[in-house]
Amino acid sequence: MPLENRVAVVTGAAQGLGLAIARRLARDGASVLLCDLQEEKVRGVAAAMAGDGLQAASVPLDVTDGPAVTAVFEETFRNRGRLDILVNSAGLGQKVTPTVELDGEEWRRILEVNLTGTFLCCRAAGRFMRRQESGSMVNLASINAHSPAALVAAYNAAKAGVASLTRTLAVELAAYGVRVNAVSPGPVYTDFNRRTMAQRSRTLGISRDEMVERVRQAIPLGRWGEPRDIASMVAYLCGSEASWITGQVFQVNGGLQGVSAAPPRTPRSES
Ligand SMILES: NC(=O)c1ccc[n+]([C@@H]2O[C@H](COP(=O)([O-])OP(=O)(O)OC[C@H]3O[C@@H](n4cnc5c(N)ncnc54)[C@H](O)[C@@H]3O)[C@@H](O)[C@H]2O)c1
Repeated sequence: MPLENRVAVVTGAAQGLGLAIARRLARDGASVLLCDLQEEKVRGVAAAMAGDGLQAASVPLDVTDGPAVTAVFEETFRNRGRLDILVNSAGLGQKVTPTVELDGEEWRRILEVNLTGTFLCCRAAGRFMRRQESGSMVNLASINAHSPAALVAAYNAAKAGVASLTRTLAVELAAYGVRVNAVSPGPVYTDFNRRTMAQRSRTLGISRDEMVERVRQAIPLGRWGEPRDIASMVAYLCGSEASWITGQVFQVNGGLQGVSAAPPRTPRSES
């Protein structure tokens, strides 16, 4: 059990990649606290994990709420006596919109959840890990951090920010034996992409199924990612096999290098 006796916190763990990561860490022996905005859902999935014999508990958490974030980490450290792993998977996709039409509220919300939420959790966890002189954080960035996609400027900027924050923290915390890395997933068909594919297909005037197939064909390994593809990389980075790896942003994307196709012009009357 590579993560036996480790205490882990996973945000955005009610579904999608966060849930797959939480399950994988627990199967590797960690005791996992699942956090999410969706209170009932996260309670249900944690209970199901516990029912499968895994060490899992849940707490409702909005990662943009600084005092609430601090309280969750303080309580975890107080109750468990340690904090070994933080995985920041809470995230929000952007409404697919030309940047010149993007409203300020959407821009702020996307930055707040994806970037500020990651900062707040890293800051809170980092204080305990620094004191403990060990720990591993893994942030979920995105292929968009490396290759910005058209029509989602706020999301691209937020994820590029997550990559930068990851590298900064890694340098600052290295002296304390705390490692900080990020994983940049390519397309995985979670709720997140169900919504994004529906919106993108409309901008191109094709069906969602055609859009999903178009993306599949663009991926050199010929298939969409599965949550377990991301979870296995995260688990590796959390464990001692990765003890000489910090400040890295790993792309796990089936070989897909970019998602930056330029959209067609919209008729002048619509712009
Ligand atoms: N699915 C993909 O293809 C893909 C690709 C690249 C990056 N990512 C990133 O991976 C992460 C997970 O994505 P996913 O596909 O599982 O998405 P998802 O939408 O299925 O799950 C995201 C989870 O985050 C939670 N969440 C949202 N806002 C929150 C907040 N303020 N506080 C706490 N929880 C909050 C949601 O309730 C949800 O359970 C995200 O950061 C996303 O940007 C996903």
